[in-house]
Amino acid sequence: MSRIALITGGVTGIGAATCLALKAAGYQVIANYFGNDAEAKEFANASGLPVYAWDVADLDACTKGVADITAQHGPIEVLVNNAGITSDAMLHKMTGEQWRSVIDIDLGGCFNMCRSVIEGMRERRFGRIVNISSVNGLSGQAGQTNYAAAKAGVIGFTKALALEGASRDITVNAIAPGYTQTAMVAAVRPDILEKIVEGVPVKRLATPEEIARGVVFLVADDAGFITGQTLSINGGKYMT
Ligand code: CAA
Repeated sequence: MSRIALITGGVTGIGAATCLALKAAGYQVIANYFGNDAEAKEFANASGLPVYAWDVADLDACTKGVADITAQHGPIEVLVNNAGITSDAMLHKMTGEQWRSVIDIDLGGCFNMCRSVIEGMRERRFGRIVNISSVNGLSGQAGQTNYAAAKAGVIGFTKALALEGASRDITVNAIAPGYTQTAMVAAVRPDILEKIVEGVPVKRLATPEEIARGVVFLVADDAGFITGQTLSINGGKYMT
């Protein structure tokens, strides 16, 4: 039986590319999404993959989503926490709502989803978790105190959970993508984005598939000795 992989925010962008890459690698893939039913339906039709809607910022919804998938398909052995938003503003203009929404979805979502799958993984003594962080969680980015804080938080969370899971063959790693061809990046003002791309040594955006490649590597059964790490895939923009 192939392993079941759940990808949050899985119907567009890096999430969708990850779903397709894991499917091609032989996993039984399930995509979570929230909000855009039309996009999700289109993805489900094109990919043939099941999609489930819930808000990763809501712990009860995550618990229920995981229970439904487990009942209908089997236990989740691979979790990719990809769902995330931006709400950019300089701090002196940022509202409390902008701060909270990004922290609740990008960092809170990671807790809510991991909390929902971790007991099952511990019982079965196997799990692969990949949390999608960001280059901006490592380097900082003007206009993103909320996002940089959440994405840096994801890295600390990843290391702590990696220590907790290590004795049970549960690996927990992060990927820190650079600027990638997604709707999130396309929303950046064109003149600002142009400057950002100029600052990337490879002089282009990543493709979502180039990020998904890292996920496939980290969730493999034989990647059990890689845990607590952050894999940067950023075209050389920020070297740790
Ligand atoms: N570095 C340093 N300073 C910057 C900057 C940068 N990248 N971008 C803008 N600034 C400065 C400006 O020069 C300006 O400085 P002064 O006040 O001294 O003139 C100040 O910040 C304000 O900039 P704006 O005029 O652009 O202010 P605004 O209020 O109109 O817009 C903003 C603010 C929405 C944050 C806008 O600057 C912006 O969109 N910046 C880009 C943010 C960004 O990179 N987001 C990434 C989204 S994609 C993503 O996050 C995916 C991922 O993981 C990589």
